[in-house]
Amino acid sequence: MAASVSRRNFAKLFAAGGSAALFADPAWAREFGGRGTDILPAGPSAGEPFWTSVREQFVMPPDLAVMNAANLCPASKPAAEALTRESSSVDRDPSPSNRARLMPEKEATRKGLAEFLRVTPDEIIITRNTSESNNMVSNGLDLKAGDEVLLHEDNHPSNLTAWHEKAKRFGFSVVVVPQKNPHPGAEYYVDAFAKAITPRTKVVSVTHLSSTVGDLMPAKELAALARSRGAFFLLDGAQSFGLLDVNLAEIQPDFYSGSAHKWPCGARECGVLYVSKAAQPKLWPTVYSAYPGAVGFSKTFESFGQRDEATMIALHAALDFQTKVGRAALEKRSRDLTTQLMDGLAKIPGITNWTSPVAERRVAVVSFVPGTLDANKLASALYTNDRIGITTRGGKDRPGLRVSPHFYNTPAEVDRLLASIAKYMKAGV
Ligand SMILES: Cc1ncc(COP(=O)(O)O)c(C=O)c1O
Repeated sequence: MAASVSRRNFAKLFAAGGSAALFADPAWAREFGGRGTDILPAGPSAGEPFWTSVREQFVMPPDLAVMNAANLCPASKPAAEALTRESSSVDRDPSPSNRARLMPEKEATRKGLAEFLRVTPDEIIITRNTSESNNMVSNGLDLKAGDEVLLHEDNHPSNLTAWHEKAKRFGFSVVVVPQKNPHPGAEYYVDAFAKAITPRTKVVSVTHLSSTVGDLMPAKELAALARSRGAFFLLDGAQSFGLLDVNLAEIQPDFYSGSAHKWPCGARECGVLYVSKAAQPKLWPTVYSAYPGAVGFSKTFESFGQRDEATMIALHAALDFQTKVGRAALEKRSRDLTTQLMDGLAKIPGITNWTSPVAERRVAVVSFVPGTLDANKLASALYTNDRIGITTRGGKDRPGLRVSPHFYNTPAEVDRLLASIAKYMKAGV
């Protein structure tokens, strides 16, 4: 927090109207730089100037093009400001009276999450991240020998290894539907899961959008399949929360997990677990401690001890910011940048792309092999020489480079990336 905002002024600003008043304070504007928290009021219809104003809500320097949202996003300015403000507030005044103010803020975050995902606050648990959320499901359901859990091979370790390890302890079996590359289409997977499900299946779980090559899975259809066979459905939303305009009322999973630090552009170490009303009586808490939530399932499930409310309030600010930008517009922007990237990669000789060429089967995660170039050397050259941040994927499963553009990226940055890749593919690295 800016030193020039005295404690009295800080209290006054809160009294005067909370965060809005604080954001208007010039000391805050100086601290976080740029044009404050305004995006162009005309909205996405203003075209590139609107998206430039969105980009200005991030403190990344303009010459640094980071396209790695599938791993970690920068916090948007409103989120970063909320985090700093609320952390500072507790350090300046850790009295119970000041801390008490944060409880309603935490519940406001729960409400914000519920609105964002189109469910009720009674069904929202605020966790640390997707890993924790997924594990709270695999720890919390009563499963025993004879029961089956049906998973996709392309699930993240927190939703694949976790089940295999717990199967050793509790005696249930894990059945895995193999992944296919390229993405064979929604119908293929609905059929594959329908063939693999049995009367013993108690849980079905997939990743909404895969982190490996960006395959979009038919969440609604698989949820319906699981429901029709009396099984729970866990949808790992690490790669869809804050990217897709997710509507859980429509998808109807039993569980949905997500992380604030990925596509929502919130603070690090905050996440969500949605638990449907029908599933709540069947899910045991993993942690028993003090300080539960105030409504619904959080009253019995979310006694996680001392928390950092600042990260939660920052997530709320991040969700509000995305809502202000426009969630459908934001999804479209990321999809458009991805199409531009896919089209450009297709024109570079020697690239093998793992991500589906069919737009409906992908969103904004693209993985490819840069010919015979060493992926690690290429990623490092891109960062060091060209100020472009993308990631590598090692191991045996479709290794190479991964690019995940988000709404703060621009067509010019995608062009810059394509030109740099083409340069190294031609001249070596
Ligand atoms: C599909 C998927 N699930 C779960 C996770 C774990 O997320 P976190 O590290 O935020 O717990 C990730 C992380 O990349 C992921 O891609």
